[in-house]
Amino acid sequence: MTTAEERQKHRQAGSFGVAADAYERGRPPYPPDAVAWSVPEHARTVVDLGAGTGKLTRALRAPGRELVAVEPSAGMREQFSRVLPDVRVVEGTGESIPLPDSSADTLVCAQAWHWVDPERAVPEVARVLRPGGRLSLVWNRRDVSVPWVAELDRILRDYAAAPTEDRQVERVSAPFGPVERQDFRWSHPLTVAELMDMVASRSYVITLEPARREELLTRVRALVDARRPAEMPYVTECYRTELAP
Ligand SMILES: C[S@@+](CC[C@H](N)C(=O)[O-])C[C@H]1O[C@@H](n2cnc3c(N)ncnc32)[C@H](O)[C@@H]1O
Repeated sequence: MTTAEERQKHRQAGSFGVAADAYERGRPPYPPDAVAWSVPEHARTVVDLGAGTGKLTRALRAPGRELVAVEPSAGMREQFSRVLPDVRVVEGTGESIPLPDSSADTLVCAQAWHWVDPERAVPEVARVLRPGGRLSLVWNRRDVSVPWVAELDRILRDYAAAPTEDRQVERVSAPFGPVERQDFRWSHPLTVAELMDMVASRSYVITLEPARREELLTRVRALVDARRPAEMPYVTECYRTELAP
């Protein structure tokens, strides 16, 4: 990655807080079967890394389980605490997690692993997990096999910056074992306003020049007015791996 691309990635990674409300309104939850595949039922201490407004965290609640959310953005943490006032949320990143060694059974990172520096985050996650603990990475990806979603994707790609495309899963290696993958197809019912919020809360939209941002939102609005979708089809892409015992 060039220095300019790195700067852009850093700017986008830090951009979410200003659109935390739109994020909470427009971004999808995670389907229960994907959550069950990613997080073992018996996991007692679960860390949600890059928790944002808690979209995944709320699906991780289980009797007797301790949940800790780690999130760098003050705006996202504020929104998180409004939605999940009883869950502990701490300031931190994948590269610097403010939790003791060997203190978590599972660490899950939804829609955020592409923002970390894996060279520093892999050993940091390994430090926080207990031996045999699990790291799970999750992304909701728009299902572009549906024609109107492919059209939306084409519009967004006219504005998207490339670094957000790299999931960096292949950079998860020792002391972790092999990485397994499973995809889950589902649809999220949503209104036109929620769909517009989903678009407006994307990092590359937040960081666009105002005129380009308006242009993009106008193009999306025209597509939505023509197609009148009532749901957004997603594929939830899940990866899991275990720390050597
Ligand atoms: C697309 S949001 C995902 C939020 C939430 N996990 C979800 O599924 O809705 C990405 C989040 O990653 C956070 N983030 C950015 N850089 C990070 C880093 N280096 N380590 C951990 N989280 C980071 C952002 O602040 C933002 O809240």
